[in-house]
Amino acid sequence: MTSRKQQLSLGAFLMATGHHIAAWRHPDAQADAGSNFRHYVALAKMAEQAKFDAIFVADSVGVRGSYLPSLSRTARSDQFEPLTLLSALAAATEKIGLIGTASTTFNEPYNVARKFASLDLISGGRAGWNLVTSSGNGESENFSLNQHALHEHRYQRAEEFHDVVSGLWDSWEDDTFVRDQENGIYFEPDKLHVLHHKGPHFSVRGPLNVSRSPQGKPVMVQAGASEAGKSLAARTAEVIFIAHQTLQEAQSFYADIKTRAQAAGRSPDAVKIMPGIFPVVAKTQAEAEEKFQKLQDLIHPVVGVGLLSQLTGADLSGYPVDGPVPELPETNGMKSRQRLLLDLARRDNLTIRQTYLRVAGARGHLQVVGTPASIADQLQQWFEQGGADGFNIMSPVLPGGLQDFIELVLPELRRRGLFRHDYQGSTLREHLGLVRPPHFSRRAA
Ligand SMILES: Cc1cc2nc3c(=O)[nH]c(=O)nc-3n(C[C@H](O)[C@H](O)[C@H](O)COP(=O)(O)O)c2cc1C
Repeated sequence: MTSRKQQLSLGAFLMATGHHIAAWRHPDAQADAGSNFRHYVALAKMAEQAKFDAIFVADSVGVRGSYLPSLSRTARSDQFEPLTLLSALAAATEKIGLIGTASTTFNEPYNVARKFASLDLISGGRAGWNLVTSSGNGESENFSLNQHALHEHRYQRAEEFHDVVSGLWDSWEDDTFVRDQENGIYFEPDKLHVLHHKGPHFSVRGPLNVSRSPQGKPVMVQAGASEAGKSLAARTAEVIFIAHQTLQEAQSFYADIKTRAQAAGRSPDAVKIMPGIFPVVAKTQAEAEEKFQKLQDLIHPVVGVGLLSQLTGADLSGYPVDGPVPELPETNGMKSRQRLLLDLARRDNLTIRQTYLRVAGARGHLQVVGTPASIADQLQQWFEQGGADGFNIMSPVLPGGLQDFIELVLPELRRRGLFRHDYQGSTLREHLGLVRPPHFSRRAA
């Protein structure tokens, strides 16, 4: 574990055809990726071969948006349910971590605890749960709700949801299931801990009907960054996914979260902060820019405005595309992302078209278009100057963009001693340098 401080963690954020909004139209894209399991198997194996810490599969429990002129021109409407996909990928891989999103707004804690504990067992200790409260675009109406719950209420539910899941994962001590055939004892009853949770949102007796999993508990991931999001993350998250535009923003978020984690009685090292990065890499700067421009040229304006509307939580289709981004009321959806985009538009005095062109690939995450050395420089700077413990790599087009990163940027990072040559452990916790949590009955009082 001593090398952790010098080496960064890398996640491969797998978004079907790629992160660029027009990726599916690119000649190198796998256009049917959203429904193509073989595509995901190839990506997971490629990332594992390159020794990434994890792959990450995001989720929304509904089609993202309902404005057909834009929706029908994007490849975001057909996707696999993450836990189903990751369970299948667990059988096709051996070492790489498997992180998937599950919403606390549209699930019950018992189901989520059970699924991730099962994934952890199936994969031999490689599961991670990205806890989200969901932004609501088209999701609530699939769950017998007319309106998306208020941001504040969603986070209150998420806090309790997390505690119930975490408690259920401690239902059994590590060595409970003795399966003593001779004496007929399947498990030792005094090592069973029934949760008996009763709170404002949930009443859950327990125990979980899955044994304690290889990692003790699957790795907790969180991606919210509003005040409520940060406070939940500082208390509970072990990995934080986040979007930043500048090193300064990244540093201030990093320092804030580590301080909050300490205030919550945790070691700052128990929380790994991994901003997203959208790399467009080629051997020369001119080639990289040309590559990026090819993707940008594929964006239909209706799609660009649709994307910006989704990210800001406001319908922008009625505004002139070459006019300024209007003042918007605070969203009930992704508050931190709306703020980031409005700040960007104001700071650089951008029109709606210019703003969507800026976010069509990275959606507010750091976009780097350049050579292997210049991209490695950026990552190194953020890593060494207190902005990140690692990065979530958001490839513009899949599979080609991930291949480019692996072939061009990874050798440069390895040359600088910043990334591993091989796995040293087998579980996601070991890759990330996170401690395996002891069962609560073994923790010091
Ligand atoms: C890398 C990354 C991945 C995310 N994945 C998901 C996801 O799969 N599903 C989802 O509903 N929200 C996802 N989000 C959104 C966050 O969960 C959160 O809603 C958003 O960052 C706004 O948080 P806030 O409301 O606390 O500001 C993701 C965010 C980031 C930065």
